[in-house]
Amino acid sequence: MAQLIGCIGTSHIPAIGGAIHKGLQQDPYWKPFFDGFPPIRQWLGEKKPDVIVIFYNDHGLNFFLDNMPTFAVGAAPEYLNSDEGWGIPSLEPLKGEVDLSWHIINTLIDKEFDIVSCQEMLVDHACSLPLKLLYPEGNYPVTVVPICINTVQFPLPKASRVYAMGKAVGEAIASWDSSKTVAVLGSGGLSHQLDGERAGHINKAFDLQFMESLLSNPEWATQFSIHELVEKTGTQGVELLMWLAMRAALTAGTSPGVRKVHSNYHIPISNTATGLLALEKMD
Ligand code: DHB
Ligand code: FE
Repeated sequence: MAQLIGCIGTSHIPAIGGAIHKGLQQDPYWKPFFDGFPPIRQWLGEKKPDVIVIFYNDHGLNFFLDNMPTFAVGAAPEYLNSDEGWGIPSLEPLKGEVDLSWHIINTLIDKEFDIVSCQEMLVDHACSLPLKLLYPEGNYPVTVVPICINTVQFPLPKASRVYAMGKAVGEAIASWDSSKTVAVLGSGGLSHQLDGERAGHINKAFDLQFMESLLSNPEWATQFSIHELVEKTGTQGVELLMWLAMRAALTAGTSPGVRKVHSNYHIPISNTATGLLALEKMD
């Protein structure tokens, strides 16, 4: 059976792509953000996952307001980047792990999650930038399964439902008939609001408590309603649901223990409080 090695949660912001393109990693504005990644790259270099399952939210690029699935699982052989345009001008396509995609789709439907399956799917900065941050040299040594969670158009799925879905994805990975190793990634958050009266809203205390909860009490954030999460973290801060799904996936299997590999938190990049966290599963 496949082996689930751990998870990585990271923020995504289109401007990161611009910074990579311009080589600004050592610039004082960007350095505290980019400096979080080398220890996680080193860990990935040791663990060498074959596949990364990516929980992310589309930003109106593949799915627009007229067609908005709550949960959508990619089942394509290749995912082309379709950014808003402020990122890296050209990003390489992500290679799909089609067999795992269908195993996840079948498992989720069997467990009564009525997801959408997508044999064609464009991905945006939320999916493509984390890969570039983790494997900056390109030519990615991993295949991917993107799983999109709606955080764009209400009604959004409840945190508890996202947690349950993430756990079911972890169970699907653990029961995949393959000798491959798999990591899960959550792309989004942490607190940020891009529009309206509270544009620029950031909640450091909540973010740090949330990151800590993923180690000690992973279901902690499921106590909050979507409106409470928006109130605390901002209209886009609710992207932290991706981290919740990612963490829930690690609870699959007989040994639920995790250890922290590395974390980083920096305010702000653009309008966002950026978080980074890698956890290793201790089986
Ligand atoms: C920003 C953050 C996001 O999560 C996003 O999807 C787009 C922009 C920002 O802070 O600029
Ligand atoms: Fe976003």
